[in-house]
Amino acid sequence: MRRQFVNGSVILKVALWYCAILGGFAGYTNWLPQIRGDAPEAAVAVDVSNVTPEMLQEMGESIIYGSHDPLGMLQRGEGPIGKGQCPLCHRFFMEQKADRCPNLIALPNPETGDEGLKVTEEQRSHDRVKDPRYKEAMERMADGEENSGIVPHAETGGQYLIESEYCPNCFVVMGFGLKGTNDTVSPMPIINKPPIQLVDTEIVAVVSYLQMRDDPGKFTAIEDWEAYWGKTLGEGEEEIKEEAPAAPGPKVALGSETPEEIVTKMTCYACHKIPGIEVAKTGMVGPLLIEGSSAPHRIASAEYKARVKEGLASATTPREYIIESIISPGAFVVPGFADDMLKDFKHKFTVSGLDVLVDHLLAQTEETAIAEGLDRLPNEKEGSLVKPAEAKIDNGEKTVKKSIEEFGDEQDAHLSIAGLENAHAKSFN
Ligand code: HEC
Ligand code: HEC
Repeated sequence: MRRQFVNGSVILKVALWYCAILGGFAGYTNWLPQIRGDAPEAAVAVDVSNVTPEMLQEMGESIIYGSHDPLGMLQRGEGPIGKGQCPLCHRFFMEQKADRCPNLIALPNPETGDEGLKVTEEQRSHDRVKDPRYKEAMERMADGEENSGIVPHAETGGQYLIESEYCPNCFVVMGFGLKGTNDTVSPMPIINKPPIQLVDTEIVAVVSYLQMRDDPGKFTAIEDWEAYWGKTLGEGEEEIKEEAPAAPGPKVALGSETPEEIVTKMTCYACHKIPGIEVAKTGMVGPLLIEGSSAPHRIASAEYKARVKEGLASATTPREYIIESIISPGAFVVPGFADDMLKDFKHKFTVSGLDVLVDHLLAQTEETAIAEGLDRLPNEKEGSLVKPAEAKIDNGEKTVKKSIEEFGDEQDAHLSIAGLENAHAKSFN
């Protein structure tokens, strides 16, 4: 079992770093149960002469939950979210209410409720590579997936789990792709790139955790990683991105912080793109946050007015709308999206902290987004920010795009196909 560590100087180094936290903080959090479980992740060298698969698993646990007592945190109403951010989207415990992304736990069979039929993520991973859609994806991305350059090529379940972290688009679980992309684009961030940016060894630790949790004793993550990449783990120098040490106590956004710091601390960037925020350039779960443009438009919409009539929403100014969206996200759900905002922000902002963030969001507009090359998601009803004038074909297509803007959705755009033909006729005359 331990042979894998012979080549692993890097693994050893990393394990030392994480082990320090395990040892140091288990006691600390027991003594102070009300204090947030995720420990300041500062390195304190301890002398560990050997690293076991169990240690790698614990390291994975720490990366996923930022805690070794995730269930306890959940019971205290806290979010066990570590630097890997996975539980922000994925469900790891029955107690956790998150279903915007595939469950990473074994659930009873949804139709029969039969406990005996539950399938673990470890078991599912083996089926994925045999799925005809996997083969299709391999063919479609034979020249490499756009963002990672990876050609899907997992051969085993373990390799599939590894690949999922480096290339979420390589296989998109049916029904969980970005709306409007026919399950070809995953809203999951690439885990080895900013902002999450786990290094290879950390990804192996996360996969070890998933495998060993589902199938105790199963420890193939290093083998899987090496077979997948055709090289030895730990050959390159890995620079681990350490999280800034967290102050003890619950995480709260403060008025003394910058918008960048608040967005980072509150993990808004995992789901939203926000102009002017360095860390928030990739989120694909929620709308592009350009509230200077969007908020007035939302309040004026028929959908919002209906919620006001029902007594569920009550904003009358853009500022109120943004505050309502953050502290009471169910009041109104932006059309095209699910009610997937985290629900506990009302406990996590001081009034002045909220002000800082709202000021920033209110100052963002279509223009500030365009200036940074940020665009809306395909499922946003308002459509792309790329103006028809910039479109490649500027005659017929322009007419269709324009009518999408005017009528708000594609179906209505088809109604003006006559306009398209007219435009063509003109350009040939
Ligand atoms: C911002 C949301 C988000 C975050 C954060 C996120 N994921 Fe995902 N993940 C998704 C979505 C959505 C899917 C389904 C689409 C797809 O297949 O890519 C997915 C799919 C997966 C799958 C494939 C599941 C299957 O059954 O085939 C694995 C494995 C996975 N994620 C692991 C992780 C791990 C580990 C982390 C943390 C290091 C993580 N994810 C972080 C959104 C997220
Ligand atoms: C787990 C994903 C997720 C996280 C994390 C998240 N959001 Fe959201 N957010 C969404 C989704 C999905 C929507 C659209 C559905 C809705 O309206 O609730 C949304 C909607 C919004 C809206 C309304 C946007 C509009 O144009 O009408 C605002 C404002 C917002 N979020 C701000 C934030 C802020 C600020 C944070 C961090 C403090 C944050 N969100 C964190 C997923 C998320």
